[in-house]
Formats: sequence, C-alpha cells, structure tokens
Amino acid sequence: MSPLPKLQKILSEFGVTSRRKAEELIREGRVAVKGRLAQIGDRADPFQDSIKIDGRRITPFPPKLYILLNKPRGTVTTLDDPEGRKTVIDLLRIKKPRLFPVGRLDYDAEGVLLLTNDGEIAHRLSHPSFRVPRTYLVKVSGKPTPEEIRRLSHGVFLEDGRTAPCHIFNLKETRENLWLQMVLYEGRNRQVKRMWEKIGYPVLKLKRVEFAGFKLGRLKPGEYRFLQPGEVQRIKEGAGERKKGGKGIYEIFQKRGSRIYQPHGRPENP
Ligand code: URA
Repeated sequence: MSPLPKLQKILSEFGVTSRRKAEELIREGRVAVKGRLAQIGDRADPFQDSIKIDGRRITPFPPKLYILLNKPRGTVTTLDDPEGRKTVIDLLRIKKPRLFPVGRLDYDAEGVLLLTNDGEIAHRLSHPSFRVPRTYLVKVSGKPTPEEIRRLSHGVFLEDGRTAPCHIFNLKETRENLWLQMVLYEGRNRQVKRMWEKIGYPVLKLKRVEFAGFKLGRLKPGEYRFLQPGEVQRIKEGAGERKKGGKGIYEIFQKRGSRIYQPHGRPENP
C-alpha cells in the first residue's frame, strides 16, 4: 500500500496553495490535522482526516477549472489514444486536476475547444437540448448550388437521424472550392463532414471559430487560456445565449452582404 501523501502535496493538489507556501504555513503553525498542529513531513488522508488552515477546514474537492484551447490539427480530443497520437491534454502544462474536453474535434480539425473538470457545465454545453451554437469555417471540394445548401440548412438524414436546422453563410468562392461558415446547434460526431459528404461535397478544411460564444481571440494553435470567473458565470447562467442587445449571427452576416441560408424551422435568429 502506498503511503499517505504529505500535507504540502495535498494542499497544493487541492488548489489551496503552492507546495512551498504550504510548507511555510506548516512551519508557522497554521495547519492542523485531526485537531493537532502539523509538522513538516506529516502525512494525512485527504478524504478522511480533518485538515484545517487557520481553523478553517479544507475540502477534498479539486477546484473547477475551465480552459479555452485553440486545438491544433494533428491532435486527438480523446484522453488516451491507442495509436499513441498527441492528445489535447498533452498540450496543457497543468496535469491535475484531470480535465476533459467538452465535445470533440476531429484529428484534422482545429479551433475552439473547451476543457474542464466541471461535469455539470460540460453537460450543459454538450447536450443538444441547450442548443449551444458552434460556428465552423468550412472549405468544401466542389461547388454546391444555392438550392443544395438551402436543403442542407433545413436538415439532412444521416445514419443517426435528421440534423437540426442550421445556418449557413457563403464566404468565398475559388475556382474549385467553396468556403462557408456554418452555425450548428448540436454536436454529433463528425457532423459537418457527414452532412457535406451526404450531398457529395467532401470537406477539405474545418476550423471551429466559435463555441458557446467563445472565440479564439489571439490564441494561436496550441495556445490556451483560463476562462475568467465572469465567463464561467455566463455559461452557468445560460450556455450559449447571446448577451442582451448584442448582434446575432444573422444580423452580422446580413450587414456584410453575404448569401444567407436561413432555415425555415428552428432555430429562429439566434
Ligand atoms: N464536425 C466535423 O465533421 N468534425 C468536427 O471535428 C466537428 C464538427
């Protein structure tokens, strides 16, 4: 049986303070275990023993962390990869608490990926009933017609059911390809690629530029930042809902004069 962890390790792993600071606190006589003043080198069972700092008990629950990562291409969003490929977790400097990605992005896709250890928030952001918007920049091979795109925005039948209505905006046309922006309100596995495959236009490039209102900002591929408390609060209050008075996607694209494929059914202007 492995020995119990040292107090300073417990305090740092629970996000109370750094190990060095924890040692200082112990030396200063401010830490007690099971009612007795702790000494440097003391060990404790973090889930059984009462550990107090300045008389206040610490709880054995790790802090909730929320990270916004610009996932680079060539990384997997699973926690372990049987093929030994690099995972998004490998990109993080913090190893504990264990974080997990909210939803998936394909190996060859890049862009916004949230990571957290907050199961409640992850559920809120992933479950289709919350209709959290995710915006993709998509390059397709070939030139789908306006009618085909309109039909796609109304929903197509895939092997796991009909897709929910989505918004599609034309961005740019090259000789052989079309660039579009798509706003989806559900996140099925490989959904964008499967939708375009279904109508005969394979996806060549895919980037998620926004998820639940979070954009990449200045983050380069592979870089990440912690969400601010206010941003976390925003998710808790209403995942993906836009701020009151803010412009919706529809209004923004309308202003830019791009062709808009507005589905008849849900969603209305998000
Ligand atoms: N749709 C896809 O096809 N792939 C992704 O990674 C995300 C959405």
